[in-house]
Amino acid sequence: MSKKIVVLAGDGVGPEVTGEAVRVLKAVSTSHKVGLEFEDALIGGAAYDAAGSPLPDATVAACKASVGILLGAVGGPKWADIPVQHRPEQGLLAIRKALGLFANLRPVTTVPELAAASPLKPEKLKGVDILVIRELTGGIYFGKRGRTAEAAFDTCEYTTAEIERVCRVAGKLAMARRRKVTSVDKANVLDTSRLWRDVATRVFREEFPQLTVEHLLVDAAAMHLLSRPADFDVMVTENMFGDILTDEASMLAGSMGLLPSASLGAGNGPGLYEPIHGSAPDIAGQGVANPCGTILSAAMLLRYSCGAEDAARRIEAAVAGALQAGARTRDIAAPGARDWLGTKAFTDVVLRHLGAH
Ligand code: NAD
Ligand code: IPM
Ligand code: MN
Repeated sequence: MSKKIVVLAGDGVGPEVTGEAVRVLKAVSTSHKVGLEFEDALIGGAAYDAAGSPLPDATVAACKASVGILLGAVGGPKWADIPVQHRPEQGLLAIRKALGLFANLRPVTTVPELAAASPLKPEKLKGVDILVIRELTGGIYFGKRGRTAEAAFDTCEYTTAEIERVCRVAGKLAMARRRKVTSVDKANVLDTSRLWRDVATRVFREEFPQLTVEHLLVDAAAMHLLSRPADFDVMVTENMFGDILTDEASMLAGSMGLLPSASLGAGNGPGLYEPIHGSAPDIAGQGVANPCGTILSAAMLLRYSCGAEDAARRIEAAVAGALQAGARTRDIAAPGARDWLGTKAFTDVVLRHLGAH
């Protein structure tokens, strides 16, 4: 039976990295008989330019009819001054909401061979294996907002049910890992965070009594991520804190270009898979973007939306193999090195490690 994957390439480096990840998916689909089929659809600035909306109805319909969605990135200076509702980023927020993708899984791991690419000392990076679960359809991103000439406001709201469901995802995933959860909030200041801490405490105590649970305030969590990153297992937090902490955490791995993500909802609907980075306007069009985050997102797509765990692991092993063999894109190359590879040439090495090239 064929499985339809919608590819939302988007803007900036988006098409460059999704193009390479699709080559990898096609290779694995053949070798592991996954039966993937691909359909392109518009999102972000590219969709606004072509169809007048950052999320055309046709894109939503195609996504709803798919088993999974691979997304590159949206946004860029070209669309900085258009009305808020048409901005590329609104398209991304709207597709997450339309598909009910409330749990955003962002794994952060380190490869010893890449230690030099991280600003942290190598001994801090040993054994780092964190899974950040970022709440994705609530909080300040989706609350009431407004702006006049002299003032503006954004509101952060959370319900008990929204916090419960994302904590349950974190609890289940932690049970299959090292059985530790860190919940991050700002309960010393925000009412939404006080609710978050109460609900998280109850859900983990009543439903996951085997877990070790830690609560951190977000400012301290930002510091602990750098001072003791290997101590963390699963981290669960609200939408904006998760956005910020994972860009910070990408520096443990060595580059924004390395981290993948999976956005999942309840039930069997399609998941959305995208690197955590943006459209990288400073390097777009040069063929130098690191495709690892997107290729590893494709592996998560196979794992969570296709039930193809073996194929997912093959891709993860091939990326690790390419890095261990010394293949580097510019962002993770040694300072001054000249032997780094472009997006496509790096992916060729990954394909060779898959035994498919
Ligand atoms: P960014 O993530 O695009 O770039 C931050 C830095 O990381 C840049 O120096 C960039 O060159 C580097 N970088 C990012 N991806 C890389 C890759 N694959 N390989 C090598 N280097 C990489 O963040 P920004 O510059 O703050 O935002 C640019 C635009 O992207 C904005 O319009 C923003 O709204 C949008 N954005 C979109 C997403 C998304 O689509 N999911 C995520 C973040 C930002
Ligand atoms: C991300 C991005 C998005 C977010 C933006 C582009 C809306 O930063 O996916 O991390 O903040 O969720
Ligand atoms: Mn972000």
